[in-house]
Amino acid sequence: MKSRFAEYFNHDEDASEYDVEVRNEFNPIRTGYGETLAWVAQKAQVSPKDSVLDLGCGTGNTSALLSKTAGLVCVDVSLKMMELAKLKLAAIENLTFIQSDLLEFFDRNKLKFDRIVSTYAIHHLTENEKALLFKEIYKCLAPGGRAVFGDLMFQNDHEKEKVVQSLLKKGHKEGVADIKDEFFWDLDNALNQLEKLGFLTVVKRFSELSWGLAAIKI
Ligand SMILES: C[S@@+](CC[C@H](N)C(=O)[O-])C[C@H]1O[C@@H](n2cnc3c(N)ncnc32)[C@H](O)[C@@H]1O
Repeated sequence: MKSRFAEYFNHDEDASEYDVEVRNEFNPIRTGYGETLAWVAQKAQVSPKDSVLDLGCGTGNTSALLSKTAGLVCVDVSLKMMELAKLKLAAIENLTFIQSDLLEFFDRNKLKFDRIVSTYAIHHLTENEKALLFKEIYKCLAPGGRAVFGDLMFQNDHEKEKVVQSLLKKGHKEGVADIKDEFFWDLDNALNQLEKLGFLTVVKRFSELSWGLAAIKI
């Protein structure tokens, strides 16, 4: 199954400006970006024997922070974002790029991984699609494996409303438009789903919108 909005959120058109744009942490969507990626890379605890999957790798900013792996697979729907990732990650051995929608990737590949990382990509999937993705992630992780996410999230609907009002007060109309257009995580729901699947979870907040979530398969 393909995610409903995979082509709409394909970042081909944003690729050339993306790495400049993410450094503008005055934009509330980008506040905490650097810290979130660093946390994801650290919590992934990658060792040289681990096979690693980066879901929605974009220009490769998260993969670039990982320690040496036994093999790294980077997946994204955008060829242009991955072209930039290829340049950035050129020194990494055992690196594979796959152009695919995230859900379709799991339909077509029955690979196993020790570690999965994903930053600022899964908020492009609807709530139902996220639930399907979590199941696939659980299935393809080895026991003791971990999936570490950094993304745009709200604790729950009540908190979402508070953050939206706070952003409006500060004049961040574009940020509020993005919230309406995309599917920022409902963290309480995600934790519930991940824990039901059999993950232990750890959460850290980096800004009004950016959170990290580590899910460890028991
Ligand atoms: C905001 S960027 C994040 C890139 C990178 N992980 C980072 O943290 O900088 C989101 C990426 O997800 C990709 N993407 C969006 N929806 C997708 C989908 N359904 N399947 C695969 N990739 C998707 C986009 O093309 C884009 O490269």
